[in-house]
Amino acid sequence: EFRRVLFRSMSQNREQWGSRVGFILAASGSAIGLGNLWKFPYITWHNNGGAFVIVYLIAVILIGWPIMTAEILIGRKSQKNPVLAFDELGGSNWSLIGWLGVLTGLVILGYYAVIAGWTITSFISCMNWSMNGYTAPEEGAFGEFIGNGKLQLLLSFIFLALTAGVISKGIKKGIERATKILMPILFLIIVYMVIMALGLPGRNEAFSFIFSPDFSNLPPSGILEAVGHAFFTLSLGMGAMITYGSYMDKKESIFKNAALVVILDTVLAIAACVIMYTIIFSVPSVKDSISGSTVGMLFITLPNLLYTEIPFGTILAPVFYILVGFAALSSTISLLEVIVSLLIDKMKMSRQKATLIGAGTTYVISIFCALSLGAVDALSSFSIFGPGKEGVLSTLDHLASNWMLPVGGLFITIFVGWFMDQKIIQDEVGKFNDDGSVNFTYNMFKFFIRFIAPVAILAVIISVIFGKDFS
Ligand code: PHE
Repeated sequence: EFRRVLFRSMSQNREQWGSRVGFILAASGSAIGLGNLWKFPYITWHNNGGAFVIVYLIAVILIGWPIMTAEILIGRKSQKNPVLAFDELGGSNWSLIGWLGVLTGLVILGYYAVIAGWTITSFISCMNWSMNGYTAPEEGAFGEFIGNGKLQLLLSFIFLALTAGVISKGIKKGIERATKILMPILFLIIVYMVIMALGLPGRNEAFSFIFSPDFSNLPPSGILEAVGHAFFTLSLGMGAMITYGSYMDKKESIFKNAALVVILDTVLAIAACVIMYTIIFSVPSVKDSISGSTVGMLFITLPNLLYTEIPFGTILAPVFYILVGFAALSSTISLLEVIVSLLIDKMKMSRQKATLIGAGTTYVISIFCALSLGAVDALSSFSIFGPGKEGVLSTLDHLASNWMLPVGGLFITIFVGWFMDQKIIQDEVGKFNDDGSVNFTYNMFKFFIRFIAPVAILAVIISVIFGKDFS
């Protein structure tokens, strides 16, 4: 009897977000990160803008929104980490989706920590420039920086240690407290930078690059990449949103929260492109330095703008990179939390021990990634997906976002749309309006999750497998 009471009180006391805005902040903190600020501008550049952006936006609406809703729903219903959630709602076969998610999380966190580490050095450079005056970096400086193996190992280590530090403190005190303060500030600074960028001469060129689609410019691999990025940037397909949804209060509206996260994330990604491309088209010297390393766009282009074009840039630049670091941190936190919550719930580990093991395992992957940017030849030239995707880091990025996440997402749609007890959907999101009619959003969600999203993902995957382009 004692054990039963204890067990009941434990399961009732699963930690929850401390406030109404807790979920929305943490979930948008997970979604908004290097995907928006670093990756989206650079892959959009490679895919020639316009048409790629359209495909990405379509993917966000048709695939991103329903899967976001589905993941939160699974999490909140089960109040468990992804593996146990699928186990409970669908049985042990379905829990394989959860395991795939954990593996995907490890892979993403492994390379993400390396890129995130760059925010630390950017911050330090900016402090230096703010105090001693700005001097534009020499050509090739960035290549030298990422090729410095020891430095990359150190930076990614620091970043993983920071992530582990927050995770070990738990949900409320760690994750929620940090994102609550930092995300709004990041938003304000981005808005300010957009407004300032709009005053630069390259504005029109930037807008037409982003918003005038020409489908003959879209490389065949671009469609898969756009779909994959929709998953990546929204943190979907691997259980992060299931995990966060599991800490969500039953009174919250899943529809509203899901839509808000999707909208915030998309707005931020587009804003990052507007800022970045306006600078590239306005400042000739930036255009030259960018052609060599688009990967470094966020880290090369922006300081130039901040220090040469923007009022108060000297103050804003270091602050901006701290915030980018925090945006990345709130994403790495969600990645590690998926792994850690599994170790806690399934292996019955303490949070501390689970954090140590999760972060330690991830660092092994980070080591290979950190050394694959020039430091070790064999790792830097390693290639499965062909030109432009050489090196362990790019290969894992491509593998995780273009294959592992969409496959995970596909199974989530099939599970929620076709196999899960449909009454759960009704219970979690509400089927009826006050007047007794069936809710429009409910109908739309059902249609999207059963037909639109799985067909769209399958169509892309099949067309890639049967012919178009493997990269
Ligand atoms: N969405 C995060 C970003 O855009 C990355 C991420 C992917 C986080 C998958 C969690 C899960 O930076």
